Amino acid sequence: MKKILIIFAHPAIARSMINSAMRDAVTDLEAVTFHDLYASYPDFLIDVTYEQQLCEAHDIIIFQHPFYWYSTPAIMKEWMDLVLEHGWAYGKHGHALEGKVFLQALTAGGDDAAYQRHGSNTFTINELTSPYRATANLCRMEWLPPFAILGIHRGLPEKTIRDHARLYRNTVIALRDDTLDISAIQQQPYLNIDLSTSGKIN
Ligand SMILES: Cc1cc2nc3c(=O)[nH]c(=O)nc-3n(C[C@H](O)[C@H](O)[C@H](O)COP(=O)(O)O)c2cc1C
Repeated sequence: MKKILIIFAHPAIARSMINSAMRDAVTDLEAVTFHDLYASYPDFLIDVTYEQQLCEAHDIIIFQHPFYWYSTPAIMKEWMDLVLEHGWAYGKHGHALEGKVFLQALTAGGDDAAYQRHGSNTFTINELTSPYRATANLCRMEWLPPFAILGIHRGLPEKTIRDHARLYRNTVIALRDDTLDISAIQQQPYLNIDLSTSGKIN
């Protein structure tokens, strides 16, 4: 069983529709650590040694967050700036994350049509998340395409929220139990779209 660390950033979880449902869908899972950055560090004073130890103790690292300005909420950037140190995460002697799997689980207001080259956001989710892919590469991690839930601005019916949360839970279980074909999945634009349409997970 792989150990999964979900690093979570949402500055207003009390008002969250989708991330709170996703959180509730995974917190009871064995071998999964759910780590809420805003709850842990309301003053942004991140404990770098503790965070590095947490990463070292897990095989798979998931960044779960709403898409804010085509990126993550601020504390996740602060986490990256401080925790991913040269000589630990990257560089000649920085091998702490080598071989671990990296996944972004993001939710966005814009829908799939908006995240196309000719859509209103001009760029795809894959293009916009490329700095995270580059970071995973630099840290010698195995990158997976994002688990992306789009179109939240339209407002999602309760059942759709439940379905997304269930697929997220099942994806985390499949990663934990190592039942996914990672190299096949790496060819897909979104992890969840492939999984839900291919019948690999339901
Ligand atoms: C400060 C801020 C910035 C946002 N930036 C984006 C963005 O760049 N692209 C987008 O599609 N949605 C954007 N949104 C919408 C959020 O991604 C959306 O409300 C969120 O994913 C919903 O998740 P929740 O129900 O867990 O809060 C933004 C929202 C806020 C508050």
